[in-house]
Order: sequence, then C-alpha cells, then structure tokens
Amino acid sequence: MCGIIGIASNKPVSINIINSLKKLEYRGYDSAGLATLTNNFINEKKCSGRVEELEKILFKTPSNGNIGIGHVRWATHGVANVINAHPHSSEQVSVVHNGIIENSDEIKKELEAKGLKFKSQTDTEVITLLITEALKNSNPLDSVFKTLNKLHGSFALGILFKNFSDIIIGARRGSPLAVGYSNGENYLGSDSYALKSMTNKISYLDDGEVCVLSKDNVNFYDANQKKINKKTHILSENENIADKGEYKNFMSKEIFEQSKTAKNCINEYIDSLKRDINIYDFPLDPKKINKIILIGCGTAYHSCLVAKYWLEELTSIDIEIDIASEFRYRRLKFNKNNLYIFVSQSGETADTAAALDICKKNKVKTCSIINVVESTIARNSDWVLPIHAGPEIGVASTKAFIGQLLVLFILSLKLAKIRDDIDEKIYEKNIKNLKKIPVSLQESLKTENNIQVMAKEFLKAKGSMFLGRGSSYPIALEGALKLKELSYLHAEGYPAGEMKHGPLALIEEGLPVIIIAPKDKYFEKTLSNMQEVIARGGKIFFITDNKKIIANDNIRFGLRVPFLNNLLSPILLTIPLQLLAYHVALLKNCDIDKPRNLAKSVTVE
Ligand code: G6P
Repeated sequence: MCGIIGIASNKPVSINIINSLKKLEYRGYDSAGLATLTNNFINEKKCSGRVEELEKILFKTPSNGNIGIGHVRWATHGVANVINAHPHSSEQVSVVHNGIIENSDEIKKELEAKGLKFKSQTDTEVITLLITEALKNSNPLDSVFKTLNKLHGSFALGILFKNFSDIIIGARRGSPLAVGYSNGENYLGSDSYALKSMTNKISYLDDGEVCVLSKDNVNFYDANQKKINKKTHILSENENIADKGEYKNFMSKEIFEQSKTAKNCINEYIDSLKRDINIYDFPLDPKKINKIILIGCGTAYHSCLVAKYWLEELTSIDIEIDIASEFRYRRLKFNKNNLYIFVSQSGETADTAAALDICKKNKVKTCSIINVVESTIARNSDWVLPIHAGPEIGVASTKAFIGQLLVLFILSLKLAKIRDDIDEKIYEKNIKNLKKIPVSLQESLKTENNIQVMAKEFLKAKGSMFLGRGSSYPIALEGALKLKELSYLHAEGYPAGEMKHGPLALIEEGLPVIIIAPKDKYFEKTLSNMQEVIARGGKIFFITDNKKIIANDNIRFGLRVPFLNNLLSPILLTIPLQLLAYHVALLKNCDIDKPRNLAKSVTVE
C-alpha cells in the first residue's frame, strides 16, 4: 500500500521516477507526487489521482535535479487530495512514506505545543517535522535514527535533504523496501519490479534497517546504527517481467494466461517420470503433524477455505483456517506439532505478515505459499512453496488464486501419500488429472462468449447472490468478491444450504443468483436450494461441470466447464466467475486493473 521510489544519479531523474511510479501504481493510486533537489531547493510536485496527472504537470513545468523521491498513495490518514499527497516537505527535508504511524496523534500534539504547524491530515507529516527538528543539532543519519526511535507502527521511508544534496535515506520497519545498484546511479524502491527497468542488482532491507544512498555508494545500518553489509541479489532476465502485451488491461491478460501459469506451476511440482510430487524438506515430519492451520486475507483466504475441504478429504489431519486479521488477535494455543500455512500472493500483506510473526514468536513451524519469493512473508517462513504465477498486476487476484489452489492441492496430495492416507493408485490418478488442468483451463476460458451476453443481465441488477456447497462454497465467495471488487455491484457469497436461514429474504423477482453446482455429492442438494430461489423469482445463472441439466425453463443461463474429478472442480469453476466479474466491469466502464478504493498489496493493518 503506497509505493516509494528514490533515485540518486549523475543525470536528471524525474522521468525515471515517473516511469517507476507507473509500475508502483498497483500499490496505490489515490494520489501521486515527487520531489527533486535543484540548487539546494526542494522542488515538490503533487496531484490527486493517477501518475498520468503528475506526468502532465511535469510536462508543463519540468523538474530538474539529479536526485529525487516519488510516491503513489493509498489513503489511510486523510482524504485523497493534493495536500495529503506525498512527499511531505519542510524547508529542510522531504519525506515519502508507506505504512502507518500509530502514535502520530500524540507526536502531533507535542509538536504543535512547540508551535509547529501542520499542513496536511496525514500521519506522515510528523516524520517530516521530527526530522526537521532533529536536524537542528544532528547530521541526517542521526536525525533519522532519533526520529525512528519515536515512531510506533510499521513503515518504509524515503527522505531527501535540502542541505545534503547528494543523499537519500531509506528506512524500513514492517513495510518492504529494496535498494538497486547501477553505474553512477542507485535506487530505492518499494519492490524490485519498480527498479527492474533500471537494474537487476538488488538488496532488500530487513526490519529496523536504514540505508544511505548516493549516486556512487550505498551504506546500510542495523537498528543500532551499526554499519552492516547486505547481500546483493541478481534478478534473472524473466523475473518480474510484466507487460500487458496485446491485452486491454493486465487483468484480462492474467485471466487468459492461467493455462500457461498453471502449467509452469504443475511442472515445478510434478515429477512426470516418477509420477510423484517434488515436495521434500518438510519443516515438520508429515506423519507427526497434529493439525494444519491455514491463514490468509481476501482471495488468499478463499484458497485456504478450498484447501480445508481438500485436506479433510485426502488426509487424516485436523484442519483449521482463519482470516489473518482475526488470527493475529485470537488467544491461541500453539502446538509444536501444528503446521501454520500462510497464503499470500504478494507476501507483504500486513495482517498475514503479523500473523506469521506471532507464530514465529511462539516457535511453531511455518510454511508460506507465495507468488513473490523475495517478499517479507517468504523470507520469514521456515518453508516456502512458490506458486510460480509470475507478476500479477491487476489488483483483483486471478492467476495467483489458481496458483495457490494448485499448490495447496499438490501439498494435500503429498501429505496424504506420506501419511499413507491415500491409495497409491488414487494418488497417481490425481497426478494424472492435475496434468490435464492447463488444457481444461483453456477449455473453461471458452465460456467467455456466453459470459459476455450473461454480463449484460447484471447491469440493472440491485445486487447478486453466489451460492455453492462443499468446495464450491469458497468459489461462490470468490465469485462474489471478484464482482464486488471490479464492478462495485453488491454481491453476496453463501453456502447454498444456509440460504434458508436469512439470505432467502433478499431474493426478489429478477435478482441474479449464480448457482455453482459441480457433479459432486452435493449436486442434488444444490438443485433443491436452487428451487427455493426459483420459487421466489430469482434469475438463475447455473455453472456446472455436470453433463446433466443445463437447459431448463427456470435457468436463465447455463455454463459448463470440463469435468476432471470432484476434487479439482473448484479450479475450473472459478474461470467463468472471473470472466463474469471482468465483463460486468467492462460494460460498466470501471477501471479494471485499479478498482476504486483498493490496492494490490495491503501493507497496513
Ligand atoms: C488485497 C488484494 C486482494 C488480495 C488480498 C490479499 O486486498 O486486493 O486481491 O487477495 O489483498 O493479498 P495477498 O497478497 O496477501 O494475497
């Protein structure tokens, strides 16, 4: 949430700052800004809205300067307007900030009592003023450390100094920050993706660390202000490549490349020769696992929910799942024979990262199922299972969800095998079916033409309802979440059997109700629940992998995806729901890759 960039160079930096900010927009797009230093003057430019607006401002009034910082914001403290946009500058310093300063109100009162005035409603401005005060009798590095000692919360910072015109200071506590190196130029960035077009040499700051970068040099310090060395990672050629190619937006590209990304993932984990799964080095002997607890947020939580059904079906392990923001505040009984699995696309989600920290403090074994392998959550876990989906830029998660499901399914199978919970033949059959997934995903994508017609029916709807049972229940939740996120249409996801306990009251003539009914043990029961909806005038959209029933007078639209086996149906049933949300949003002219009020990587609590 919020993106930071800093460049110290031997040539003007504003164009590269703008280009990097465009790559960081997935982290926030409420407002944007930059500050460069020219002749010991902090030249600040800010706008509300997108980086495009900032670019227009710069086009009219260019910013010179060989050193600068930039920011894209996802508003937390204070509305999204120009005044609250970052950087926040005094005459002496300019600050860009990602995260939340929890004691900002307290600090603000203290500073106001000293006669200092605030311009914005943000928590960030306290940092600007604290550093400015400290600079009266300290050098920049000491002033930053003095300031950091007063701050509570989690954050990443980029700081520019009027009178020390060759340095940018970066600091990390909780929110990610990377440093990039090049000849005569060094960089600070919220992620390596923003720096990729400028360098492939990257270091990652750890919590509490500070860096001082100039065009020729970077120094790192630990939380005690002791100089330290950092490892440099060389990003591979294809790492972080994200280009929407011929697609209208990243989301459609990401939906349509799912067959390819699924294939990558399956190839990484399946040993075709041995007909086995390449997962070894468990942090805990699988035979001794007492319980698995799966934790995530948003779409990642939905994949935990699907995995619960799989693990329960395939293994004898006790399973629990939780939303990270709930898990982190529960009074939990930790057990060293439990395995705690964290699912996250970005690996930076603050609630998930905090839940992981709690597990680490309680010395239990952790595993992360992650897309961004250099992320905080991946680095802090005992064991990492990457999903190999490649960069996901669209804010609403699609290919990462399918990747998470695949890895969770593969892990469930492997655990079942090691624990002798599964028959060898069934194990091999499941592996065989898994390998058919990429082709079946491709087939499922062919529902698009029908979905384009179906999407029109949602334009006048007051809301919508998504229903499923068993592992189709989390898919109903995910379908409803996608529609909400992208098209701003109210959508409820519900277990179909729970309808009669309240939500049925919402059904009225013409309300779109999406029934997700694969060929499984719940099929007939879901049909009965559908009848309850039909009897009350709901407009039925029926999604199945069952050859039986699709044409029926009471069904407005029927869609069929391929059938592989009961366990794998959630993966294929997701595709039409992603396409539905996408096409409704397209018809409503919504900003598909950057839905209002949202951000891809939520690094605040
Ligand atoms: C944000 C994104 C969602 C995502 C959730 C969890 O809300 O908009 O698409 O599912 O964060 O993100 P993570 O990176 O932890 O999977």
